[in-house]
Amino acid sequence: MASTENSRNPRYFFLLILIFCASYFMIRLWTFNERAALPQMLSKFHHFKFFRKKLISHEAVNTSFDDLVNVSLSRQVAETIVEENVPLPNLPEISLEEFIKEEKQYYHDEQYLMYKKCPTSVRLKIANNSAVKHKFIEDMPVLMWDKHLSPSEYKRLFRFKNINGFKNMYYKNISSTLSKLTSENNRYMFDDLLHSATKKDCIRCAIIGNGGILNGSKKGKEIDSHDYVFRVNTALTKGFEADVGSKTSFYCFTMVTLSNTLAGSRKFGFTAPPSPPGIRYLVFADNEWTYMYMGAQFAGKDPLPRSPDKYHRRPMKFNVPVTPDIIKIVHPDFERYLKWSWVNSSHQHRDIHRPTTGAIMLLVALHTCDEVNAYGFGGSYEKYSDHYYEPKFSKHTFYANHDDRTEQKLWHLLRKEKIINLYTRDEER
Ligand SMILES: *[C@@H]1O[C@H](CO)[C@@H](O)[C@H](O)[C@H]1NC(C)=O
Ligand SMILES: *[C@@H]1O[C@H](CO)[C@@H](O)[C@H](O)[C@H]1NC(C)=O
Ligand SMILES: *[C@@H]1O[C@H](CO)[C@@H](O)[C@H](O)[C@H]1NC(C)=O
Ligand SMILES: *[C@@H]1O[C@H](CO)[C@@H](O)[C@H](O)[C@H]1NC(C)=O
Ligand SMILES: *[C@@H]1O[C@H](CO)[C@@H](O)[C@H](O)[C@H]1NC(C)=O
Ligand SMILES: *[C@@H]1O[C@H](CO)[C@@H](O)[C@H](O)[C@H]1NC(C)=O
Repeated sequence: MASTENSRNPRYFFLLILIFCASYFMIRLWTFNERAALPQMLSKFHHFKFFRKKLISHEAVNTSFDDLVNVSLSRQVAETIVEENVPLPNLPEISLEEFIKEEKQYYHDEQYLMYKKCPTSVRLKIANNSAVKHKFIEDMPVLMWDKHLSPSEYKRLFRFKNINGFKNMYYKNISSTLSKLTSENNRYMFDDLLHSATKKDCIRCAIIGNGGILNGSKKGKEIDSHDYVFRVNTALTKGFEADVGSKTSFYCFTMVTLSNTLAGSRKFGFTAPPSPPGIRYLVFADNEWTYMYMGAQFAGKDPLPRSPDKYHRRPMKFNVPVTPDIIKIVHPDFERYLKWSWVNSSHQHRDIHRPTTGAIMLLVALHTCDEVNAYGFGGSYEKYSDHYYEPKFSKHTFYANHDDRTEQKLWHLLRKEKIINLYTRDEER
């Protein structure tokens, strides 16, 4: 037979191996490209709506709400995350202009589909409004969970500091937390609705800033009547129920603001983050400590790590076990998007500027809730005490890393455009 003769010939044998290797290589290249290059392709085609839709629908392959929250989707991803020991990336120096350009490149994914059930949603109002629609990117990721960590995403985000990325953080330390965020609770803000008998298409949220404007507001009942109540920092309710309500669904923090809050507000009676039944913690991860601390909490470690920086901050004590199912981490791309698109500050500083913790909370709500009612934001700094819980008038402190006045203008713009309701006591007099 001819084939037996051929296979005896070493030249044919060699050719066969070559063909085999080439096809293997081509197949690997093809599957790699499909997965890794998609976010870059999407950002390139961002301005061509037609292309973007096409690419997303191709990648999403009938992604539905159910698929997006399906727990079993990313188990495999989680396993590879833990195993890989990725060295610190060595990124070349770039100019400020190039850096800003990179900061403005975002991952796009389909999380927004999860918040798309309500026909009167605040996001439809934004998309319909010529004064604000240029700020809004629909398919921006809001939360981050295990599927968002891969060596290539790690390298991309390694450029950005603090809340904006993974700068100087070790892959393994981040993955100790992210690899545990595998459940639908980590993908979707209002996870209690997933298995609830009552279906709710439009979600009403009260967002509570801590401004002195709330002192004497008598808004407590109205606040508590919302589906979800978001609070931040010194979220004191005991003794202030008439003005600020008592319900807390989401407590928002960064590790640094929380440790400052606990140090500064003990004297007002604030000793631990709120922990009523059903509480969810919305974390704005501003350093490696956050990931190490969360990972240690998940593993039940004791003692918990102090901050590795020169301040050696104490680990915070929660009154409930901090388990992955009550944690939601905001995606670093979302943080940078807020910085550039929503709090477009004239004082922006490459290294330190970020929106205030209260602003991040309100803007997360704007991207997930359907009706957003804000209290304790946008009050005059001259007229009202810094916070509602202070017994004596206390002046507002401006910090260099925030632009409070730009944020205030934004809240008033959103109110004027009838996108959010903002509690302003003067008008009600
Ligand atoms: C998406 O779902 C529809 C209906 O279930 C089906 O006809 C279509 O082939 C699916 N598309 C893909 C890409 O799987
Ligand atoms: C989740 O995924 C599993 C496995 O792929 C599948 O059997 C199940 O039906 C999915 N659940 C939903 C709600 O899509
Ligand atoms: C969007 O604008 C159109 C035309 O002005 C209006 O009919 C529609 O109700 C608006 N939709 C929303 C959700 O505001
Ligand atoms: C963070 O990662 C580095 C390098 O792998 C390691 O030396 C350090 O111990 C890690 N820190 C924690 C708290 O796991
Ligand atoms: C941000 O501010 C700059 C300068 O004021 C302006 O040119 C730009 O259009 C603003 N961008 C957004 C998204 O508002
Ligand atoms: C809060 O309101 C009460 C009653 O109007 C007033 O006596 C008190 O001084 C206010 N507190 C602050 C810090 O302004």
